[in-house]
Amino acid sequence: MMVLRRAAVKMSAGYEAMPRTRLGSDARLCKTSGPVFAPDGFTQLIELRHVGKTYQTATGAFQALRDIDLDIRRGEVFGIIGRSGAGKSTLLRLLNLLERPTQGAVRIEGQDITQLDAPGLRKLRQHIGMVFQHFNLLSSRTVYENVRFPLRVAGELSRSEQQARVMEVLQLVGLTDQARKYPRQLSGGQRQRVGVARALANRPNLLLCDEATSALDPETTQSILRLLLEINRTLRITVVLITHGMDVIRAVADRVAILDHGRLVELGDVIDVFLNPQAETTRALLAESGVETESWHGSVGESGRVLRLTYKGEAVALPVLSRYGRELGLDFSILQGSVGRIKDMPYGQLTISVAQEDDARVAQLLAALTGHGIHHQVLR
Ligand SMILES: Nc1ncnc2c1ncn2[C@@H]1O[C@H](COP(=O)(O)OP(=O)(O)OP(=O)(O)O)[C@@H](O)[C@H]1O
Ligand SMILES: [Mg+2]
Repeated sequence: MMVLRRAAVKMSAGYEAMPRTRLGSDARLCKTSGPVFAPDGFTQLIELRHVGKTYQTATGAFQALRDIDLDIRRGEVFGIIGRSGAGKSTLLRLLNLLERPTQGAVRIEGQDITQLDAPGLRKLRQHIGMVFQHFNLLSSRTVYENVRFPLRVAGELSRSEQQARVMEVLQLVGLTDQARKYPRQLSGGQRQRVGVARALANRPNLLLCDEATSALDPETTQSILRLLLEINRTLRITVVLITHGMDVIRAVADRVAILDHGRLVELGDVIDVFLNPQAETTRALLAESGVETESWHGSVGESGRVLRLTYKGEAVALPVLSRYGRELGLDFSILQGSVGRIKDMPYGQLTISVAQEDDARVAQLLAALTGHGIHHQVLR
């Protein structure tokens, strides 16, 4: 990890030294319509507005995506989760126009990318890296040639510049010593590192990952996720990743979109979605990954209130429950509780019952907790 970290920092410095031409001054993706990737000033990197996708099939029209409205922020890791066939890959492929929307607008840095002409679209794709579940490497080419491939297609660098760039990204993914090997001589995790290096070769500012870890064992999955996080943090590349696994979302994503049968059923900060899922699909996906969302089972006496308290960040360290309990003369029993971290954020969630039947005092308690940023639900 240390080796990787050093390499990443070094590469980051390289990025900084480079006037952000990758998507800056030369990034006129479309000569007639101006730069899609404006140098600065946009919080939202991507905006989808009322996006729909209908496929024409032999058996008629099939609507794979319906009325999707979402923003992806610059610099975040944005997760997309849903069951097979929910429309995740379709949604991802709209972002580099591998699929065209049949309704609505896809804007990147303010520009509707469906309006780009052919050179503009080529430029756009050059600056969006993509990582696939099954790596999609050229089996007859070495690691070096696989990574160089997008640079040759772009045709912007001299041979020696291409060589320097290939070695730079191979160093970033920790594969400098594997450059002469062929994909079949590598492990799955190493192949995916080649896939990531190739995606980074043109110095993208957006990385799309379609189930990048689904073909890997748990340990390798973790190492690839760490790599993606490093890339996101050190190179400040926005990452959009699709997964079937809530554990993947929990480990790396800042925000998450849940798709179900082509609809966006939930969207929010990962920690909020985990602690307070709203959609039935989200609750089911969480339950399948072992996250308990129905945390109290009525196993207390008939009377008194049952409350679920959710707190995160600094609120975790506050001893407010015991303090206000003492001040208000309320006694609690803990019915269920969990504490942990989601990405970097500490959180806690407690389900408690209040012994006293005194709604006025309970209301005072809840007001005090809200004042400290502690979210509550009255379950009974
Ligand atoms: N080119 C196409 N023509 C017709 N239907 C398509 C096409 N591509 C996808 N679909 C259909 O659209 C729906 C969404 O497909 P998509 O590949 O986006 O799902 P997904 O969420 O990525 O699923 P998985 O988790 O299995 O990869 C599916 O029902 C699929 O059969
Ligand atoms: Mg898919």
